[in-house]
Amino acid sequence: MQYSKIVATGSYLPEKILSNHDLEKLVDTSDEWITSRSGIKQRHIVADGEKTSDMAYHAALSAINSSNFDKFNIDIIVMATSSPDMIFPSTACLLQNRLGLTHIPAFDLQAACTGFLYAITTADAYIKSGMYKTALVVGVDTISRFIDYTDRNTCVLFGDGAGAVILQASEEPGILINELHADGSGDWALNVSGHMYNGQIKSNPYMFMDGKAVFKMAVKNLSAVATSVLNKAGYTNEDLDWLVPHQANIRIIEATADHLNIPMDKVIVTVDMHGNTSAASVPLALDDAIKNQKIKRGDLIMLEGVGAGYTWGASLIRY
Ligand SMILES: CC(C)(COP(=O)(O)OP(=O)(O)OC[C@H]1O[C@@H](n2cnc3c(N)ncnc32)[C@H](O)[C@@H]1OP(=O)(O)O)[C@@H](O)C(=O)NCCC(=O)NCCS
Repeated sequence: MQYSKIVATGSYLPEKILSNHDLEKLVDTSDEWITSRSGIKQRHIVADGEKTSDMAYHAALSAINSSNFDKFNIDIIVMATSSPDMIFPSTACLLQNRLGLTHIPAFDLQAACTGFLYAITTADAYIKSGMYKTALVVGVDTISRFIDYTDRNTCVLFGDGAGAVILQASEEPGILINELHADGSGDWALNVSGHMYNGQIKSNPYMFMDGKAVFKMAVKNLSAVATSVLNKAGYTNEDLDWLVPHQANIRIIEATADHLNIPMDKVIVTVDMHGNTSAASVPLALDDAIKNQKIKRGDLIMLEGVGAGYTWGASLIRY
């Protein structure tokens, strides 16, 4: 049986930190409100002129350098982002050029905050099919570009960042099961409807979110997809060493863990430090947990994503 195994991880966070106290100066909010409703204390925000491709490049280099990986072994780049540098070419192509990886295929895919789950599933399918042996998978978002810093409903929740993993074909178990879902009827609840038309931006260039609707959807679908994946693999919640959920809100994370009967000391939490970094959230949390020696080789881990679309999914992995 052919598996794909995570052989390296990396991440990047912009230098600038926006704390809850900084936000108190921008909108009518408080550190107490943000902390109690979301668990977020701070988020990182790109510097002026810093782009999605810059963050992707630093995260990719961090993965490559973390294991002295020979970058010329990479034979495809799959990038999840909702905030590409340009409409085209894709940000994956910009990254491919900057890494000096001539002629390997590179493309972006977009599934909002579930993007990394869609990207790792896609890369895994290529590897399992035998088409490619090594994939660089990047989740990256400059969500601050779409945030209205006068809208307290959204501006307190999101931050910028990038995470990367290198997947390689292996005879040993690695990614065991992926499951993805979408429900396009949820488009109204979480969107950036702005688009270019005839040389102008039409509709709303900033994020719109119905927080309560998204909250309910997230807990319901994250619990369901995790249960389904564990059942398919013949495992129970007790077999799981770590849950690495999308880092949107500590209350969503805690409610999901509660539904799954997984204690919080088996759940990776970085939302307090990063906020919701969209497609970067899961690989950032994964890299953090590996670098801090929480997740170790041989552990059974589950990655979970949820976001606009609606979209959601999970991957069960023997690390
Ligand atoms: C947004 C969210 C934190 C709000 O929490 P909540 O428990 O639903 O909010 P509450 O009902 O306690 O409070 C709502 C009130 O707080 C106010 N409020 C909203 N943002 C606020 C802020 N930053 N500071 C202070 N007050 C705020 C609202 O205006 C509302 O006031 P009103 O009752 O006078 O109309 C929560 O719904 C959430 O996290 N949803 C999911 C969002 C998400 O994760 N999206 C991305 C998924 S990928």
